[in-house]
Amino acid sequence: MTTTFIPRNLAELQTPAPLVDAALLAGNLALMAEAWPGPRLRPHVKAHKCTELARHQRDVGHPGFTCATIREVEGMVAAGLGQDLLLANEVLDTTRLGALVAAGARVTAAVDSAFTVEAAARGGVREVLIDVNVGLPRCGCSPADAGGLAELARAAGLEVRGVMGYEGHTMMVKDRADRARQVADSMALLEQAHAAVGGPIRSAGGTGSWDLNVSATELQAGSYALMDTDYASLGLPFGPALSILATVISVNQGGWAVADCGLKALGMDHGNPSLSDGSAVWFCSDEHIVFSPPEGGSLPSVGDRVRVLPAHVDPTMAYHERLYLVSDDRVQEAWPVDLRGW
Ligand SMILES: Cc1ncc(COP(=O)(O)O)c(C=O)c1O
Repeated sequence: MTTTFIPRNLAELQTPAPLVDAALLAGNLALMAEAWPGPRLRPHVKAHKCTELARHQRDVGHPGFTCATIREVEGMVAAGLGQDLLLANEVLDTTRLGALVAAGARVTAAVDSAFTVEAAARGGVREVLIDVNVGLPRCGCSPADAGGLAELARAAGLEVRGVMGYEGHTMMVKDRADRARQVADSMALLEQAHAAVGGPIRSAGGTGSWDLNVSATELQAGSYALMDTDYASLGLPFGPALSILATVISVNQGGWAVADCGLKALGMDHGNPSLSDGSAVWFCSDEHIVFSPPEGGSLPSVGDRVRVLPAHVDPTMAYHERLYLVSDDRVQEAWPVDLRGW
């Protein structure tokens, strides 16, 4: 077995390296746990893919988690965090989930069709939520079909715990009043479906609706823990805990500099990242970020360190093997990003 040397001093870290500010992370977890205490929050692990971070979420009171992939469910069970896992996604081969259930984990799967109901029953999953389309054109049955699907699931021997409906299309609506109205519209659809389905759970929401969703019995937020610049643009009160440490590798006196954090270290689907010092980002290529100093600022020197703030946290984390929990210039701990893959 090879052991990886983890430097204690930030200056010695190889870059690009994801840094998580310990105080900002703790603040984000505490703020959300105050608003959605205990089982009312079912943190989505796809936003960080790290069981150590999930353990911290468990330690502030949340016993159950949301997952997006079978691998995430398996990893959470292996880490001893399998008390109540929701796979908020459709799965047609549930054999691996059934094996976890047989070994004692509690795994609930989302179903939105006769196919996924049949797959859950066949593979040994015992509990399901009816996944309802509440406006995001992705998975989910129509609200009018939810009751019938629940009947089908019960007839197949499955326990129906309720409904889920992710109002993802509302998360980035900039105007807060408009966002609130759209979240309410979505939740009216989920409530309609829930009335026909029954069960104790109405699972919904994310970081963008954390203070607007008044209908969910449990919120599935994930990004709030580490945050990204896209969510920060909404003015949410969660701090930018995640940054990618990068090293300036080239400086051009024509007015730009290059650091070693390119699009293979960043989720770019929500646009360019930002630099924490306000530098203007020109573009990212595979292994480079090209930027110019802020108005009135001077060019950095080769070897300087910069902090890159990703626009989208989830795919960013999926690129990295480990994250570093830091306080000022000290590396406190290294946590494996162990839920990557499928
Ligand atoms: C099913 C589901 N629930 C909840 C979320 C919310 O996550 P976040 O808080 O990161 O927006 C997502 C994000 O894409 C999702 O796909």
